[in-house]
Amino acid sequence: MADFNIRLAVESDCDEIVRLRQELADYNKISDKMEMTAEKLRRDGFGDRKCFQCLVVEDMIASASKDNAVLLGYALYFYTYSAKVGRVLFLEDIFVSAAHRGRGIGSKLFQDVAQVGVAQGCQRMQWEAYAWNKPSIAFYKKRGAKNITDSESLHWFEINGPKLEQLAKQSFPAHLNRDVIADNR
Ligand code: COA
Repeated sequence: MADFNIRLAVESDCDEIVRLRQELADYNKISDKMEMTAEKLRRDGFGDRKCFQCLVVEDMIASASKDNAVLLGYALYFYTYSAKVGRVLFLEDIFVSAAHRGRGIGSKLFQDVAQVGVAQGCQRMQWEAYAWNKPSIAFYKKRGAKNITDSESLHWFEINGPKLEQLAKQSFPAHLNRDVIADNR
């Protein structure tokens, strides 16, 4: 029996995904900003309005003696849209626990995510990486990815928290249909 198995996440994986997300936050040195909870993941991944899917890597040896699956890695993704190419798979996180790196698990996970995207008609897979994270940048480039920050001088922007609320501070525009917008979430 292989000692790991890559499969689609199920609702009962959420606590383990949060544990691994915390390990990724520690790796990224942003532990204090970790706001994810298993409850949010259950709501947004397995509730009425699904916002993401996740592939998980189950540790088959550790799981054998436990009631719930023990995970050693995950890849969380969702679909977005490009007005240029159409459907795009956005890879939000890919992570393999430190003790299990360098055994081909991340490569297989990355390839499986690409297969999911292609099967769903995506023309593109996209993600972000910190400039300091040289090992992961090398990992991506070796597998055919192009750094578009370099080639297209493209910068990411975000607005969040109070500034987002400030920007949205107005009565909801009457000409926008709330129900249609809610359906598209
Ligand atoms: N530690 C060890 N190897 C790493 C690495 C890391 N932090 N980041 C990338 N690698 C490279 C190795 O140098 C190796 O390169 P090679 O293909 O030239 O041999 C390759 O990844 C190992 O491949 P594989 O065993 O298939 O990958 P993995 O199971 O180690 O998983 C990552 C690769 C990137 C998912 C994993 O290393 C990881 O979780 N890193 C920390 C989190 C992270 O950086 N995530 C991406 C955020 S953008």
